[in-house]
Amino acid sequence: MELIGRMLDGSLPYDVQAVLRPSAGPAVGQGEKIERLLEVPIFEGCSRRQLRAVARIAGVFSAPAGAVLTRTGDIGREFFLILDGTARAEVSPRKRVRLGPGDFFGEMSLLDGQPRSATVVAETPLRLLVINSRNFHYVLAEVPELTRALLATLSRRVRQAEKSLNA
Ligand code: CMP
Repeated sequence: MELIGRMLDGSLPYDVQAVLRPSAGPAVGQGEKIERLLEVPIFEGCSRRQLRAVARIAGVFSAPAGAVLTRTGDIGREFFLILDGTARAEVSPRKRVRLGPGDFFGEMSLLDGQPRSATVVAETPLRLLVINSRNFHYVLAEVPELTRALLATLSRRVRQAEKSLNA
C-alpha cells in the first residue's frame, strides 16, 4: 500500500515501480529505519533529530537480483542507499564498480539535473533506502553531514577517474 500511495502522490515515479517492492516482511517502522541508518557510515555524526527527518521521508524497498535501478541516459528521480546486498555500476564498457551495504548511488543526476551517468544493476537481491528528488534536496539542506559525505565520495570518484585516464 505504501508503494501505491507513493506512486499516486508522485513521490515515486512509475518506472521505478517496475523493480522496487515494499521491503519484505513486516512494515519497516521509524525505529528500525533509524537503527539501520545508524549502521551507515554516511550518517555518522548525524543527530537523532536529523536521522528522524531522514527516516520520515525515506522508503525501504526491495529489488530482485538483475533489477536495473538506474539506466545511463535516463532522467534521475531517486537517490538510493544500499542496506543489504550488492549492485554493479556500469560506468563505461571498461569500468564497473561494485557497490555494497552503506554505499549509495543516484546522487549525481539529482545534484546537477543531468541524465544518469551509469547503469546500476542489482547483483543480489537488494534492500534499499530510497529518497525522491524533492526530499533529497530537503535532506541535504537539513543534514550538512550528509552533504559532506556526498562531496567526499564525489571527490574520490573524480580522483579515481583522473587516475585511470592518466594510467
Ligand atoms: P547518477 O548519475 O544519478 O546515476 C548513476 C549513478 O552511478 C551515479 O549517479 C552515481 O551514483 C553512480 N556512479 C557513477 N559513476 C560512478 C563511479 N565511478 N563509481 C561509483 N559509482 C558511480
